[in-house]
Amino acid sequence: MDQVKLRGDSEIDKLTQICHQRNQQSLDAWELYAPHRDSVTLLLRKLATPTDRLCILGAGNCNDFDLKLLAPVFQQIDLVDLDSQAVSHALDRQGIKQLNNIRVLPSTDVSGWLAQSTNTPQFDMDSLILTLNEKQAPVDQVVQQLSGPYEIVASVGLLSQLIDSIQELVAPTHILWSIALKAIIAQHINLLSGLTSEGGKSVLFTELFSSDSCEELFETPDSALSRLCRRELDRGNHYKGLNPAELRALHSKNSGFRHVSTTMPWKWQYLSRTYAVCAHVATKHRKETPLEN
Ligand SMILES: C[S@@+](CC[C@H](N)C(=O)[O-])C[C@H]1O[C@@H](n2cnc3c(N)ncnc32)[C@H](O)[C@@H]1O
Repeated sequence: MDQVKLRGDSEIDKLTQICHQRNQQSLDAWELYAPHRDSVTLLLRKLATPTDRLCILGAGNCNDFDLKLLAPVFQQIDLVDLDSQAVSHALDRQGIKQLNNIRVLPSTDVSGWLAQSTNTPQFDMDSLILTLNEKQAPVDQVVQQLSGPYEIVASVGLLSQLIDSIQELVAPTHILWSIALKAIIAQHINLLSGLTSEGGKSVLFTELFSSDSCEELFETPDSALSRLCRRELDRGNHYKGLNPAELRALHSKNSGFRHVSTTMPWKWQYLSRTYAVCAHVATKHRKETPLEN
């Protein structure tokens, strides 16, 4: 049975529409996201030096980082999303158009394969996998589209959306689904590496699991969150592909990175659902520095 759900030339339009609809749903989440936003903003501020340029991938409604606190500590901030309209509207809503070190880049598909798949007259799973597996091609193309390299590159809640996008195209029961999953995650880590300058840092903010699979998360205080996360991860309760150990291993496999660490988890209240989230911070190798084992 054919399990590819979308066909034809307009996958990118359909996925842009899906992103746009989701962004509409969380438009007014500024208050709700406050504790999550504090964690994201604090981590990015800690990494900043005044000459650094920051690139935020998956900026969307800009509810999960505080640009008013980030703008003074970075030389420049570039905001990237497939739905660049959501980003522009967020700057209007937050009244920060006057901060001239913030730029909204044109709508960009950071996965790099959507544009390629739209050039394929007969979209099929094999061509998708082939495109995803071309390790460098989609990465170089996206890196060229953006204005890197950046000293700090942050990906905020984006990787799970990229995985979701694949799900819009291919049923998770498809025989090649797990290959596609691995390829999209590897592409994202390669992109982070490609966009980060030597000695710079990439910060991958990802969800671990949600209150859908662990109701206890709603009531768990921050002080007990690490223990709960360890227990759930040991039980295998995590989004497929977003297990921290697997993600660290993938960073280490990318010769561009020399060190990767994972932060303590925190909670993100997303509409009626709570997520446990964390960040993976990786340092880009400097060519003159010998690689550590
Ligand atoms: C969960 S949201 C992140 C939250 C967002 N920073 C906010 O505060 O609203 C993920 C974002 O990724 C964007 N996105 C999804 N697929 C993308 C793609 N292929 N390329 C670029 N951005 C994408 C969506 O438009 C959305 O804005």
